[in-house]
Amino acid sequence: MNLAQRPTPLTLLDRASDRWGRGKRLWVKRDDLTGSTLTGNKVRKLEFFAAHANQHGYTSFITCGGLQSNHARATAGVCAQLGLHCELVLRGRPPLEGGNTLLDALFGAEVTPVEPREYVKNLEALLHATADRHRQQGYQPLVIPTGGSNGLGIWGYIAAAEELIADMAQARIEKALVVCATGSGGTQAGLTAGFALLSPESRVLGMAVCDDEHYFKEKVLDDVEQAKAHWADLSCPPDRIFTNDSYIGAGYGIAGPEVYKTIGELAGLEGILLDPVYTGKAFYGLITELKKGEYQDVEDIIFVHTGGVFGVFPHEQGLREALSHAG
Ligand SMILES: Cc1ncc(COP(=O)(O)O)c(C=O)c1O
Repeated sequence: MNLAQRPTPLTLLDRASDRWGRGKRLWVKRDDLTGSTLTGNKVRKLEFFAAHANQHGYTSFITCGGLQSNHARATAGVCAQLGLHCELVLRGRPPLEGGNTLLDALFGAEVTPVEPREYVKNLEALLHATADRHRQQGYQPLVIPTGGSNGLGIWGYIAAAEELIADMAQARIEKALVVCATGSGGTQAGLTAGFALLSPESRVLGMAVCDDEHYFKEKVLDDVEQAKAHWADLSCPPDRIFTNDSYIGAGYGIAGPEVYKTIGELAGLEGILLDPVYTGKAFYGLITELKKGEYQDVEDIIFVHTGGVFGVFPHEQGLREALSHAG
């Protein structure tokens, strides 16, 4: 189902290459431009859930995530577009304010905040109970996992890999390091499987914003294994799964001054806005590794901008402080 604005541009960042590239060309795949309110990577995955819902008669979506989840916001937006009922089971305590929670409300999603410890312990049971309630209310519910990352959702990024490989051919890039933020693992899984299949000379690197390298190896393999239900020939050799888990900082959703500073620098330099939870951390990781002299085997580095723009608002104070120090 067509919900994302595709293809998104692949853009060479001249000034950023001069500042951070150490002789390499830095490109950005602008998946932050998949749509003004659906912005980011989630909509590519949600297209597959929407098609599945359409095919099987589902009338409500239930999904989960943190209070400021981009995936939850995008799911709420897609449901509003398609006339589906939406319930978001979100980890965190009220008040629901700022950033994505405002958009969830505007899209008319039902939001159920759950105390963090209870969420971590009982998420599966909570989603089950929510689905039962939807059935009693007369809906046919589809439960979408965290981040839309499973054997169905990752097809969005297998298709995105195909799109990016076509962009690369047009830009005469033969081999690249493709870097993305990785959280629930689906973007990394889809890109990794897609490049393994269609352009194995390039490689995909997930910059973790939570969890560790081992977790992402297992998660990518698991998602790809599930995706084989839709096409049995898909494969992803474990030695093609690359994750850097050194830039998580103090924890998921917590950004340090170095991340805020990087966001301000790239915004001022190229007019491209990163977010503090995902893309800002991943980009900071990338430029720090470049500073250390890593990635000698490639001339082209493509940063997949996975969106998250509304995530700057709950971090206004940190961003303003970084700007005042820069000024
Ligand atoms: C803006 C943004 N970038 C990257 C990611 C990571 O993608 P994934 O969940 O597929 O690992 C997410 C979501 O988790 C996100 O919202």
